[in-house]
Amino acid sequence: MTSGLMPPITGKKGRILSGIQPTGNLHLGNYLGAIRNWASMQADYQCLFCIVDMHAITVWQEPSELGRATREVAAGYIAAGLDPSANTLFVQSHVPAHAQLAWVFNCVSRLGWLNRMTQFKDKAGKNREAASSGLYVYPNLMAADILVYKATHVPVGEDQKQHLELTRDIAQKFNADYGTQLFPLPKPIIQGPGMRVMSLRDGKKKMSKSDPSVYSRINMTDSKDEIAHKIRKATTDAQPLPGTVEGLEGRPEASNLLNIYAALTDRTLEQVLLETEGWQFSQFKTKLTEAAVSVLGPITTEMKRLISDPREIDHVLARGADSANEIANGVLQEAYNAVGFMSGRN
Ligand code: TYM
Repeated sequence: MTSGLMPPITGKKGRILSGIQPTGNLHLGNYLGAIRNWASMQADYQCLFCIVDMHAITVWQEPSELGRATREVAAGYIAAGLDPSANTLFVQSHVPAHAQLAWVFNCVSRLGWLNRMTQFKDKAGKNREAASSGLYVYPNLMAADILVYKATHVPVGEDQKQHLELTRDIAQKFNADYGTQLFPLPKPIIQGPGMRVMSLRDGKKKMSKSDPSVYSRINMTDSKDEIAHKIRKATTDAQPLPGTVEGLEGRPEASNLLNIYAALTDRTLEQVLLETEGWQFSQFKTKLTEAAVSVLGPITTEMKRLISDPREIDHVLARGADSANEIANGVLQEAYNAVGFMSGRN
């Protein structure tokens, strides 16, 4: 194990860690809520971007599919502009320290805290007895992902807010219990109109990889025609578009499509409403399709190129694992020392 010294974060605002599960296809919510924001921060922060395959298997994943999905997320990262030479892109299971620190956190985190996690309730559904224990302790592993790098900032979509709060609670309790300042309290960065992209079929439901309807989401690998078709089929209401945010009250589908349009065109909702006031949905959907195709088109093309020859991706991920392991092993050793584990080395 390397020494617990951290490489300095010189000239940067801090260290970012974030991740995506390789379950199903990357979609517009992942792009607007996460990857795109990461790309805009990479110059200012030291960044580690992870593909969290160990989180993925908290619910059943087909073994023959998991590797493909993992490479697809890596392709999405690179194609959407995350620079693999300036950032660390890696796979969670390639860095054993995540699981090792997670075990320590299983002993720090409280059952009462985990019982409040809404994601567990949502994912376990009615038959909780049949859920995996991994799904229950999922947030402890997520805390380890972040704290094993002493990350200071975590850019995510809004759905991850509660997990970030738990990460801060774990850091605080570990520091207090063991009389140390080892872990910083990481700050969530949740911002912009894309932080909560909703289903195209139901404006009250999050856009998600697990929604059975393919029309509920736009995938990052969708063709122009698929994007146009899904937007044409998106649920709307019968009114023309309003000119103010207040006018969107009680109109979740209109709000969602306008927020997506704002995020895709890098504007605020208010700015977009000035353009679209009084429009019918048919006119608006044409504009929205153009915006989605112009943003996603080049990313999709590059993703397909990367996926067709995975050697480049595999090389990036192998290099990423080396640098992630170097930092993570040092911090894990510091945590082990704080806990009082006997040294196995001298
Ligand atoms: P996951 O894989 O569900 O989603 C990855 C990222 O995409 C964001 N996201 C969305 N943003 C806006 N609208 C949506 N509809 C939408 N759907 C997904 C998520 O907020 C997230 O930022 N638990 C995490 C993965 C994780 C992680 C971590 C994240 C594991 N360890 C450490 C940050 C740091 C998850 O399930 O994300």
